[in-house]
Amino acid sequence: MLSVKFIDHELPNCFMNASGPKCTDLDQLMTLASNKYVSCVVSKSCTVEHRDGNPLPRYWEDDALTINSTGLANKGYKYYGEISEKVTSTNKPFIVSVAGLCQNDNLEMLNHLNNIPAVSAIELNLSCPNIAGKPQVGYDLDATRDLLRKVFDIKESVASLVEMIPIKEITKPLGLKLPPYFDPNQIIQTADLISEFPISYVTCINSLGNGLVIDPNSIGPVIKPKCGLGGIGGDVIKPFALSNVYQFRQALPDKIDVIGCGGISKGRDAFEHILVGATAVQLGSVFMKEGPSCFKRISEELTMELQKMGFKNLDECRGKFTPII
Ligand code: DHB
Repeated sequence: MLSVKFIDHELPNCFMNASGPKCTDLDQLMTLASNKYVSCVVSKSCTVEHRDGNPLPRYWEDDALTINSTGLANKGYKYYGEISEKVTSTNKPFIVSVAGLCQNDNLEMLNHLNNIPAVSAIELNLSCPNIAGKPQVGYDLDATRDLLRKVFDIKESVASLVEMIPIKEITKPLGLKLPPYFDPNQIIQTADLISEFPISYVTCINSLGNGLVIDPNSIGPVIKPKCGLGGIGGDVIKPFALSNVYQFRQALPDKIDVIGCGGISKGRDAFEHILVGATAVQLGSVFMKEGPSCFKRISEELTMELQKMGFKNLDECRGKFTPII
């Protein structure tokens, strides 16, 4: 009932973890890989070098939201290549998320990971908000274009003097982790740009960057880095996630999947993501708060929600959201 086709795989259900919580080391990744209700495993976004990340405290939660400024704490990209065979030993795809600190770092990581057989796909993160002094690439159309051109090594075709032909240097499926956009025009422009490249999927959305939560018992913030500014996740971001999934699904060609991420803490939330066009969904804040049991609970709740709403499977429900006219 929950099966989906994604990155050339038939997956038994539509749930994967979001890059971020509890997916940094082999132990954590194996916990995900051995969970029957996780159909695809995603790594913490990696950098060229190992990083300890930002000073603590860098994570806080309440019922409505999470705020984090982890600062790309990760083991360095070579580690994720090295453990990829172990992670895929349970026969589910392993997506390595990369978040270079500069363009060359991204190109180096992509070229390396592209040649590792057990890496199933690469998710290029264009939206990390938590490195002081590094803007989110996904908010800069020119920087995004320049990066994607280099990734796909666009060369002028000899056969045609007028056409630019993308030469696919990256042979694995490539996804893009996008920030939330708040103006429909930004989405149209970003979708038009993405459509020029052989991108397999986009994940909408990363956390809402640079939110501020003040400690209820003090006059200061709940986290330390960046004067308290951090990425907001959890239930409060669902309306923005749904809006971005919906608009990107409308604006992108069918061959580019949209993966829904943001504000999913129960079956109904996952249902709504599929309704606006998500192929599959990722769980971030709820996995951080509840641990691995959230995947079974939300899978079962989604199955019940589909039955209640009269859909036999996800394919029947996907994209069925209808605006009131
Ligand atoms: C971090 C946060 C993000 O939202 C992201 O996309 C990548 C990294 C972090 O703070 O580690």
